[in-house]
Amino acid sequence: MATPPDGRRLDPPSSFVEQANVTDESIYEEFERNWPDCWERAAELLEWEEEYEEVLDGSDAPFYEWFRDGKLNASYNCVDRHVEAGRKNHAAIRWEGKLGETHTTTYQDLYRRVNELAATLRELGVDRDDVVTIYLPMIPELPIAMLACARIGAPHSVVFAGFSADALATRMKSADSEYLITCDGYYRRGDAFNQKSKVDNALLDLDASVTTVVVNRLGEALDCVLGDRQYDYRKLIRSQAGATVEPVTRDAEDMLFIMYTSGTTGQPKGVTHSTGGYLAYAAWTTQAVLDVKPEDTYWCSADIGWITGHSYIVYGPLALGTTSVMYEGTPDYPDRSRLWEIVERNAVDVFYTAPTAIRAFMKWGQEYPDQHDLSSLRLLGTVGEPINPRAWKWYYDHIGDEECPIVDTWWQTETGGMMVTTLPGVGTMKPGTAGPPLPGISANVVDTDGNEAEPGESGYLTVDKPWPGMLRTLYRNDERYRSEYWEPFSDPASDEWVYFSGDGARIDDDGYITVLGRVDDVLNVSGHRLGTMEIESAIVGVEGVAEAAVVGGQRGDGETAVYAYVSTEHGYEGDEELRERIVAGVEDTIGPIARPEQVVFTPELPKTRSGKIMRRLLEDIANEEELGDTSALRNPEVVGEIEAVDRER
Ligand code: WTA
Repeated sequence: MATPPDGRRLDPPSSFVEQANVTDESIYEEFERNWPDCWERAAELLEWEEEYEEVLDGSDAPFYEWFRDGKLNASYNCVDRHVEAGRKNHAAIRWEGKLGETHTTTYQDLYRRVNELAATLRELGVDRDDVVTIYLPMIPELPIAMLACARIGAPHSVVFAGFSADALATRMKSADSEYLITCDGYYRRGDAFNQKSKVDNALLDLDASVTTVVVNRLGEALDCVLGDRQYDYRKLIRSQAGATVEPVTRDAEDMLFIMYTSGTTGQPKGVTHSTGGYLAYAAWTTQAVLDVKPEDTYWCSADIGWITGHSYIVYGPLALGTTSVMYEGTPDYPDRSRLWEIVERNAVDVFYTAPTAIRAFMKWGQEYPDQHDLSSLRLLGTVGEPINPRAWKWYYDHIGDEECPIVDTWWQTETGGMMVTTLPGVGTMKPGTAGPPLPGISANVVDTDGNEAEPGESGYLTVDKPWPGMLRTLYRNDERYRSEYWEPFSDPASDEWVYFSGDGARIDDDGYITVLGRVDDVLNVSGHRLGTMEIESAIVGVEGVAEAAVVGGQRGDGETAVYAYVSTEHGYEGDEELRERIVAGVEDTIGPIARPEQVVFTPELPKTRSGKIMRRLLEDIANEEELGDTSALRNPEVVGEIEAVDRER
């Protein structure tokens, strides 16, 4: 079948539909009719120690409780039960290292390693409900550490390994975390990179005494110096060889983990996820949307340091007992065929990646995938940002060979799992449009007053019924949880709560939703969420900077980059030296992912009469768009000056 032009529809190939986990269209209606009991179907994918009493308790909305009084353990569900079911020799994790190493962890291996680490953590003093921070690159010890924490009822907080020392310290402080699992270093494109020195810098910043476990990734001997309360992972594990730890009974609502994400203020938000609802939802969406079966080899190319990796490399796939591929490297090292070589060698069935990666593959050319046999692939997925129809088609034609449906999945750190996408064995695909809300998910596009937007009109993406995978609160900040997510669109007079996603969207006549991107001060750079205020406060911390405003600039290649507009303090020049210090300041405070690609020095920033910086206006200037009304500015004359400097960049 030839790929249709933009805006056309495409049905999933019958070869896919015949074997799909979900094929009956009536599921939408069934979930609606049976809501919220429909979610028992997700809970049934797990093994419960004690049955829950109630599917949904909304008596303290928007603090919802799912599967109330149910008891379970996430590590038991992701590991033990598969071993008990006679699948101990089945591969759980196929690891592909950056230097070309490969390693398979069977469910039995996983059981042993998770238990030994759980016993180690206990020995070090980790108690249930203590938050353990994990700061590891994509090595098997990362999911092992998450599952070991889950086993002993200690919530984990995984901090992306590329984040800076400052970012690590901020997150540890915010979570009062006194335990850290990290490593000596890791490889970036073949070069060894020191992680431990970042850790030591972060620890200097913390008042609390921290117990640190250091995994050796770089070589035979752990040649970094271990300070007070710092231990060699391997030695600790050796002393627990063969130890087993009974999985701790957790309440469905007990916290499984915290995941920090960027919001509209300078402070990252600690999104908390529950044990029962989150795990059930991750497993359900992995089965229904990614069509994963236990015998599959499934690959999500995200980093476990973000929510996508939590839900769709670790918890969802392992709860279903499938084989999850975990890749440590980058798509273009040692060459641009690397991913396709991994797909071919492992005979990957389902592949899930980000649009920014697809656009890079497209730029490199089809000769790279063409060199490999990709016929094992059955389904493709994307996540993280809107996918433009051209990239969608390239993915469909050159990776899927016109035989794999594509699921364009919209969701967020806060939603825990996928929310808006087609079901691959049911729904017609429309390139560039994520799809309808999943069964049981009541997502809508509304106008400023919260009324449903007309088809074709842009509005705000909201969800007016809770779902099991939803965040439960922001760590120790119920107030911010309520005000950021629920207050903007809920009617205080009624007891009906509406969740606001922070995204703009459009809905069409068939109820398909096209996500347009963030409407708040959050940027999406290569699928990574960055708060403009976080970057701005890093820049303002640089000596010589008076004020800064950060916006998303559209590069010629269609990617979004960080552009910074900066005014200097009296006596400082906006020169190359200051520019370099600004870039270094951002890298030190957040990490290289937030590095500003452009720094534009301006005499002043445009402000409203109440003194608020008009980022939108700067965004229009950066992207050479028509400028809107500037009459609300306190200093309209500055616009011309900024445009003049901007043209020189
Ligand atoms: C964006 C990642 C369009 C959106 C799972 C959302 C998307 C933010 C899509 C969440 C998609 C994610 N189409 N936009 N399919 N998926 N987004 O928390 O702006 O890192 O709010 O979670 O990514 O990013 P987060």
